[in-house]
Amino acid sequence: MPFSNLVLDTSHDVATLTLNRPDSLNALSTDLLKELIRAADVIGGSGARTVVVSGAGRAFCAGVDIAMLSEAIGASNEDEQYAAFELGSKMADAIESIPQVTVASLHGYVVGGGIVLAAACDLRVAEQDTVFSIPEIDLGIPLAWGGIERLVREIGPAMTKELVMTCRRFTAQEAKAARFINEIAEPGEAFGRAHQIASTIASKPSLPIRVTKAHVAEILSGDATRDDAATAMTTLDDPGSVSARETYLTQLSERS
Ligand code: COA
Repeated sequence: MPFSNLVLDTSHDVATLTLNRPDSLNALSTDLLKELIRAADVIGGSGARTVVVSGAGRAFCAGVDIAMLSEAIGASNEDEQYAAFELGSKMADAIESIPQVTVASLHGYVVGGGIVLAAACDLRVAEQDTVFSIPEIDLGIPLAWGGIERLVREIGPAMTKELVMTCRRFTAQEAKAARFINEIAEPGEAFGRAHQIASTIASKPSLPIRVTKAHVAEILSGDATRDDAATAMTTLDDPGSVSARETYLTQLSERS
């Protein structure tokens, strides 16, 4: 089934996943959330090595679609309300579960659920004039969708409490200082920079990259029981890893 709220291209080493509801600043509607879950599955089954996640138009994402939120609040029974609130969590979990490395390209506005989506990506680049905010408490609801867990993980409890409880806007510079983003890009250059980082990672042998992503996820989930020696051995006969190692060692010997 084609996508109508996003554009997905998995035909290159660096896949691109672009939220495509620019008229509503890529607000996360029910349909867009469902398409993101489906897109995550398509990416996982594709040959792409990395993914750049971005938004079309003048913002990355203005958060949950206000119409969807109003519908959820006004739903006639609790099961419907639960399903509506749970859909965002499912989306963030699906994006986080993509086995390839994901790089978020942030610009314009990154609001509420848009911050959760960005936090579900592995790396984040933001243009220097990007405006971030988490207005959920002003809307009378706590930040959901696994947002608190992800923010505590990325920026720690005190910054999470401050930004979520005050609902104040914050800048890309603050987001960088809080370690929410990896890099600040010039205006108009987040996508290009995110793509460069994604290309660099895509050029590396994919098995150790995937192992590293999975290892970090295990540590974050409190399951740090991996046997590093046994894991390292799984890469020894991997053709991509062997070829990378040979190139590296050849270049090293040529330098000395
Ligand atoms: N849900 C649905 N539509 C949204 C939206 C959202 N979360 N955010 C923006 N839009 C729509 C606006 O209604 C407007 O539509 P229109 O052109 O048909 O009137 C369009 O996107 C542009 O938004 P606008 O408010 O005119 O842009 P702006 O540059 O003045 O302000 C924001 C940008 C992000 C500050 C502002 O749109 C905003 O605060 N949006 C709501 C954010 C929010 O509360 N999200 C939910 C909590 S996560």
